Amino acid sequence: MKTVDDGILVRKIGDGTVIDHIPAGKAFTVIRLLGVSLPPRGRLAIIVNTDSGKLGKKDIVKIEGQYPDEDVIKLIALVAPHATINYIEGYKVVRKFRVEPPEEVVGVVKCSNPRCITNSDREGVSPRLQLVSQNPLRLRCVYCERYTEYEDILNQFMEK
Ligand code: CTP
Ligand code: ZN
Repeated sequence: MKTVDDGILVRKIGDGTVIDHIPAGKAFTVIRLLGVSLPPRGRLAIIVNTDSGKLGKKDIVKIEGQYPDEDVIKLIALVAPHATINYIEGYKVVRKFRVEPPEEVVGVVKCSNPRCITNSDREGVSPRLQLVSQNPLRLRCVYCERYTEYEDILNQFMEK
């Protein structure tokens, strides 16, 4: 599916990673999620509300000269379940795949239960949530068994 204006607004990159088919307006959430792993070199392009045949509107993130780790890439699925990852080398897409959420999310997403042991500052227990459903995205806490849904995850990363 060709995008209508992406090539005009932001040009193609020579090497790096293109995160495509992000839900419209969610690019900043994806960036926040990846934040810790983006070293301060190379350029980063964020394209918001561009036209997409599939989604109507979508966001795109282009990370020049970087190939984030696979386990970081998996986290993208938590906020952009239909994102595609394109690895670019020599201006060509050398690998393209759909993001897949991890089976277990450790330390990244908070449990939705405010009384969960993982939400207590005193206990110092990292949250551990297991994937129970991909569509809709739903995780379950290994400690209190409470579900954390897609919307909960979005809200967490918008607060930060
Ligand atoms: N892209 C880029 N730089 C390149 C090659 C591609 O920034 N050197 C971007 C394109 O602009 C597009 C994404 O990477 O946003 C995927 O490129 P491509 O596979 O050529 O596009 P489509 O066929 O539209 O992808 P899909 O079928 O996954 O929608
Ligand atoms: Zn819990």
